[in-house]
Amino acid sequence: MTDFALWTRAVQARTEAALAACLPVAELAPTRLHAAMRYVALGGGKRVRPMLAFAAGEAVGVDTRLTEAAACAVELIHVYSLTHDDLPSMDNDDLRRGKPTCHVQYDEATALLVGDALQSAAFEVLAEAGASAEMVALLARAAGSRGMCGGQAVDIESTGKPLDLAELEFMHIHKTGALIRAAVVLGALAGGALADDQRGALEHYAKCIGLAFQVMDDVLDAEADTATLGKTAGKDAAQGKATYLTLMSVKEARAYAGELVDEALAAITPFGERSRRLGEIARFIIERQF
Ligand code: IPE
Ligand code: IPE
Ligand code: MG
Ligand code: MG
Ligand code: MG
Repeated sequence: MTDFALWTRAVQARTEAALAACLPVAELAPTRLHAAMRYVALGGGKRVRPMLAFAAGEAVGVDTRLTEAAACAVELIHVYSLTHDDLPSMDNDDLRRGKPTCHVQYDEATALLVGDALQSAAFEVLAEAGASAEMVALLARAAGSRGMCGGQAVDIESTGKPLDLAELEFMHIHKTGALIRAAVVLGALAGGALADDQRGALEHYAKCIGLAFQVMDDVLDAEADTATLGKTAGKDAAQGKATYLTLMSVKEARAYAGELVDEALAAITPFGERSRRLGEIARFIIERQF
């Protein structure tokens, strides 16, 4: 196993343990809600956003309880976004992370409440670990109507309608890029204030890989199979979703994601060896099979 693969395993295990510790136990009333929150948050997912938070911490030379809280907080918002994304009124998906989606395993009302409660849990984790008001505001903005929720709104509005490249980029940068950027910046801010040039470099890196991540998500939806993805393959075309593949071929989309990753790698060169993990994650984003 490569050094990077070992590192990702360690981050996944650390994230799993931290999430298991911060979520209410399933025996606590209301037990059905707490069990459902643990069902969606634990035991699956690549944990790319926690990886990014820890890797950004490494780039600035810091790994504290606050770094871990930042990793968990972004993952909790992400898991909430997946739970709502799969709802019948959104993408109507019945498989997520290789398991029945929350509304299938439980019910629709529970899936709504799970998302609501996971979002609150994210801010609770961050605030309890001593996050600055800047960190809390940054996560709030990334999750909200000028971030992930805004991108999801464009996704829903544009289903069945053609988008041009600029509109597609806007949608992807918001629905997926915003939380990826938050993971990187929060991971670094957990170490204290950032110099403008450091922050600019990390933001540029994050913007590029955030977009590349969703371009690859679109490619994998079309090219991979359901068993590998752990979610239903081929749904974007079936549902008339606007994706990069409505405007370019798979080959062109892969090449575009590759260019974005090259740009991301160039942005973090000032960090030198300390940005090794960020670089490895960027490459992983375009090489991944699921
Ligand atoms: C899927 O995200 C949804 C998007 C925002 C593209 P991931 O591919 O990170 O899903 P998990 O967390 O590994 O399940
Ligand atoms: C989802 O995009 C982005 C989110 C904010 C969850 P998709 O709808 O393409 O994600 P998947 O393919 O269902 O994971
Ligand atoms: Mg969606
Ligand atoms: Mg979806
Ligand atoms: Mg998708």
